[in-house]
Amino acid sequence: MSTEKKISVDAGGGNRGSFTGKIGFVLAAAGSAVGLGNIWRFPYLAAKYGGGIFLLVYILLSVTFGFTLMVAEIAIGRKTGQSPIGAFRALDKRFTFIGVLGAVVPMLILPYYSVIGGWVTKYAFGFMTGHMTEMATNIGESTYFGMYISNVWEPIGWFALFMGATALIVLFGVQKGVEKVSKVMMPVLVVLMIFIVIYSFCTTDNVWEGVVYYLKPDFSKFTYMTVVAAMGQLFYSMSLAMGIMITFGSYMKKDISIENSAHQIEIFDTGIAFLAGLMIVPACVAYDPSQLTKGPGLMFGVLPKVFDNMFGGAFIGTVFFLMVLLAALTSSISLMETVVSTVQDKWKLSRRVSCLIVFGISILLGVLSCLGYSAWDDILVFGKFAILDFFDFVTNSVMMPIIALCTCIFVSFILKPSVVIDEISLSGRFRLKGMFSVIIRYIAPVCLLVILVFAILEGVGVITV
Ligand code: PHE
Repeated sequence: MSTEKKISVDAGGGNRGSFTGKIGFVLAAAGSAVGLGNIWRFPYLAAKYGGGIFLLVYILLSVTFGFTLMVAEIAIGRKTGQSPIGAFRALDKRFTFIGVLGAVVPMLILPYYSVIGGWVTKYAFGFMTGHMTEMATNIGESTYFGMYISNVWEPIGWFALFMGATALIVLFGVQKGVEKVSKVMMPVLVVLMIFIVIYSFCTTDNVWEGVVYYLKPDFSKFTYMTVVAAMGQLFYSMSLAMGIMITFGSYMKKDISIENSAHQIEIFDTGIAFLAGLMIVPACVAYDPSQLTKGPGLMFGVLPKVFDNMFGGAFIGTVFFLMVLLAALTSSISLMETVVSTVQDKWKLSRRVSCLIVFGISILLGVLSCLGYSAWDDILVFGKFAILDFFDFVTNSVMMPIIALCTCIFVSFILKPSVVIDEISLSGRFRLKGMFSVIIRYIAPVCLLVILVFAILEGVGVITV
């Protein structure tokens, strides 16, 4: 190894700004992790893929795969002190492509994430201006939400607003301010969710049927799609397999325990997702079980009904949607920030130009996603995906497993797990070393490969569940 390479490889934490302490790191990573993935995406997947069995598979994967991948990414970032492309290049030039692939994923997620951010903005505004009951009422066969997204212009407008806010914050570099606010709001969000769960349990008829559906694993509902969906969700929710944790790791000090931090992020992230599911899935079973398999619209179709039945629901609903909006904003900011800094470094552009380019591409792709539910709802990619769902599928079920697979292979056979283990051991004994080594070397690569193949075959319609 040349001296130059050695220097660049061991730069962790030194010449970049670092987080002040453990809590700083955990909170920043959790701010990126907690977002629409937990509150909007997790409940609809749990509802769609069989309730309890999905929950069980998700939790199992989270404490094994999720943990393994997370500590590996953070360790790679901290060891090299660089963001993903630079990190892989510093470790082995031939694997730079993993970093590049990882950099493309947030660019594909950001636009459709912001479309959903736009839905949340619309709902927050609707609740604030006294339209709750209207939003809770079905129109013929369709929910209010179903009608809303079939409009051509309105969803585009709210999307542009959300995207614009994200871009302005990233452009002016004021995300620190937003993050500070969100650190106060996050605990409030948790308390509010617990309150809503308890309230709706006490006041909704038949709610226990849904609680059983959500909590009790029904093994007859298990299919390989349960695993595919849970795995994709895990990457998405914990911001894994797209280089984000590598970037976070590069700012982390050497004396902070990677292992404990990973556990904390995991618990926090999964906890919020679990609560969101508890808030939405049983209510859906009680109010309108036909929505269970509907997908992305679940939260928007069900929650207004819950609030409409609640004393003071207009107020509680408004506060709830505003807080979800904030959680979404901190995540979209971290997505955009990642893309902008990649564009800036790669093409040596100014921050302003990079922001403008990323904003332009996002608007274009986001408008496509909006139209996929309205004017172009007859376009189904591979005969089954609306445009937004297609972006979601390609990133979560195809690209992220590929990146995760390559990362595992890289760590196991090129870098060797001992390098990651040594980095983690810098701050004390790595307790789950044994599990880490076995998963990263054998279990993860095999499972990821199988999952990937199934997901693709299912996606293009060669096999069906
Ligand atoms: N993890 C975020 C969520 O659950 C989404 C996200 C992914 C944010 C990647 C930033 C980076 O909503």
